[in-house]
Amino acid sequence: MRHVAVLPGDGIGPEVVAEAVRVLECLRDEYALAVEIEYGLVGGAAYDVHGHPLPEATLQLATSAQAVLLGAVGGPRWESLPIVVRPEKALLGLRSALGVFANLRPAILYPQLAGASTLRAEVVSGLDLMIVRELTGGIYFGEPRGVRTLENGERQGFNTLVYTESEIERVAVRAFEIARARARRVCSVDKANVLESTELWREVVMKVACRYPDVAVSHMYVDNAAMQLVRAPKQFDVIVTTNMFGDILSDEAAMLTGSIGMLPSASLNETDRGLYEPIHGSAPDIAGKNIANPLATILSVAMMLRYSLHEPTLATRVEAAVSTVLDTGLRTADIAETSHACCSTRAMGDAVIAALRAPLS
Ligand code: IPM
Ligand code: MG
Repeated sequence: MRHVAVLPGDGIGPEVVAEAVRVLECLRDEYALAVEIEYGLVGGAAYDVHGHPLPEATLQLATSAQAVLLGAVGGPRWESLPIVVRPEKALLGLRSALGVFANLRPAILYPQLAGASTLRAEVVSGLDLMIVRELTGGIYFGEPRGVRTLENGERQGFNTLVYTESEIERVAVRAFEIARARARRVCSVDKANVLESTELWREVVMKVACRYPDVAVSHMYVDNAAMQLVRAPKQFDVIVTTNMFGDILSDEAAMLTGSIGMLPSASLNETDRGLYEPIHGSAPDIAGKNIANPLATILSVAMMLRYSLHEPTLATRVEAAVSTVLDTGLRTADIAETSHACCSTRAMGDAVIAALRAPLS
């Protein structure tokens, strides 16, 4: 029996997670997937009950599970809290406690959604890239950090961008392994012309690359990478980069595909224990309205099946069900072109489940 911890969180989190859990339950009931699902509180929802966004019970639940499915955290209600108890801190705490250093963020353009991208169809059609973002180090976690008062009375904010060789090496290895199962190209993104820590990043990635002679490696400065992503995104296969650069570039890559509401993510540790979440946030403006797109979370379940539960056939079935549903023209508001009437979160979940139940053609 594999334990899956489900942390719906805030905003649209509970709505989109509910549909993804129904998909998991369908696989459990009809495809004999051996999973046990347990719920926990995280983010603002946990703060409201326990005064902390990542209570001990949630941490226990998450660290003892094989996989964690998380919706989203944060919202205006908690924005004025001190940074140490903000909902976002729970996310960082979970990533750190689970040791999930490799964050996989695929950006795939579904042909059915080519018209939803703000870029011309020929620039993005067929796009299939994977961003491997380092997730438990870098400037997000580096010490010292804080705000101090200087001798002249002025305040100064500071953070530290640190990477050890082993932190760089393990995420680079992941990226090269992933590239081997894809188009065998890795582009490492850094700012080695200015930042010593990423000069080391480049050096270590070059060393790792020597162990993968079958994979083509290239290096790009982050400013250029940001430009190339919108100029000619199909030049990329796998991008490996630091925590903060990956945060920024993955949002940019998401928009190439038309909607951030479509993109899942997986964060993995050494032993494939994983944290799975849609890359969109809690979208408080549309929370509780049953209009959010649940597909990113459902596709996160597919990634969970593939990477942590080792059920590649079921993973492919979920992905195929999503594609079938898109073929029928069903669209939530975020991916609708004017010609499509919008469906609800629940209706999208229903359709994916119906497609999963349909006999294989
Ligand atoms: C993400 C988010 C988080 C991050 C925030 C919510 C802390 O933007 O997962 O990309 O910066 O990592
Ligand atoms: Mg982000």
